[in-house]
Amino acid sequence: MPDTITKLAYQTFQQGKSYFGVTHKSLSGQLMRAFNPPKVKIQDVDFKTLQILQQRLNDLLEQDWADAEAGVYPKELLFDNPWDEFFRFYPFVCLDLPGLWERANRRHYHSFDADIDTSGYPKYYLQNFHHQTNGYLSEMSANLYDLQVEILFNGSADPMRRRILAPLKAALADKPKPKVLDIACGTGRTLSMIRDTLPQTLLYGVDLSPAYLRKANGLLSSKPRVLPQLVQANGEDLPFVAAYFEAVVSVFLFHELPAEARQNVINEAYRVVKPGGVFIICDSIQRSDSPEFEVMMDNFPTMFHEPYYRHYTTDDLNQRLIDAGFESVSNQVHFMSKYWVAHKPAT
Ligand SMILES: C[S@@+](CC[C@H](N)C(=O)[O-])C[C@H]1O[C@@H](n2cnc3c(N)ncnc32)[C@H](O)[C@@H]1O
Repeated sequence: MPDTITKLAYQTFQQGKSYFGVTHKSLSGQLMRAFNPPKVKIQDVDFKTLQILQQRLNDLLEQDWADAEAGVYPKELLFDNPWDEFFRFYPFVCLDLPGLWERANRRHYHSFDADIDTSGYPKYYLQNFHHQTNGYLSEMSANLYDLQVEILFNGSADPMRRRILAPLKAALADKPKPKVLDIACGTGRTLSMIRDTLPQTLLYGVDLSPAYLRKANGLLSSKPRVLPQLVQANGEDLPFVAAYFEAVVSVFLFHELPAEARQNVINEAYRVVKPGGVFIICDSIQRSDSPEFEVMMDNFPTMFHEPYYRHYTTDDLNQRLIDAGFESVSNQVHFMSKYWVAHKPAT
């Protein structure tokens, strides 16, 4: 397909996802106000901020396209979307809403069905993050997660995840069969992108949720490629020997950790990465880099149950990385996400 047509197709595809996200949020918001009005107060986002937000989204998509065009990753990645899953599970996203509103209004943040085994997890993890039914611990939660995240970010979750690929590829350029670990791999979307971009890589993923790991296994097994090794583990205590990986990545984890756990995960990433290796984090923007989005950063933890987000938005992760031993830490900001690229000194 000529590039102009492919780009148009990509823009149309992203615009479709964006309209879908906006429409869903608008309709579900109206239903919520009619049937179970929220008890929390949300600040209005002014028109100028929305315009800046739209511009940032456009910039992210331009960068995504430019990287694919430059061959950083295959163009097919731009269109990689689990449509069948989205159609299958969208009704369940809608059916889940009344229970979710009810829990939010009753401030039930630690609610798990009797058949969910909650033993052995850190206390901070046993939460209904995003008011999610059964937190991260049910099959249904794992089935709905990708769709819910796409709705939340108006279809930009994968473009934001893909921002880690250019620095990762650059860091692994001269490594023949590098080992890469994804801490908190969730449903496996980042691992799948890395595998498509760097097929020679040996991939590993850890997550605390057995249900999300099963989901990741399904996604990663659906293509006849090398299967990443998935391990149920806490990012604070990784089951790998020191200096095992050429690179470690983590996407959308840090805002869901209390401060101490953030430092523990960084320390563990430092331990398991080889000297000269890289650690790349992708997570939410913070107050220091995006003061224009303060209102949204205030609203987010109020609307979605995110108990550690407020502290996260002021946490100096550069300092935490340096405290762990990393050097040459650089940052980028794209749309609603921020990136840390940190290097372990070569010996
Ligand atoms: C917001 S999701 C992000 C998932 C995935 N990285 C993505 O890009 O969508 C957070 C994930 O972190 C996992 N998680 C939270 N705390 C963890 C910890 N201490 N160790 C390992 N995984 C953890 C959760 O089970 C969940 O899958």
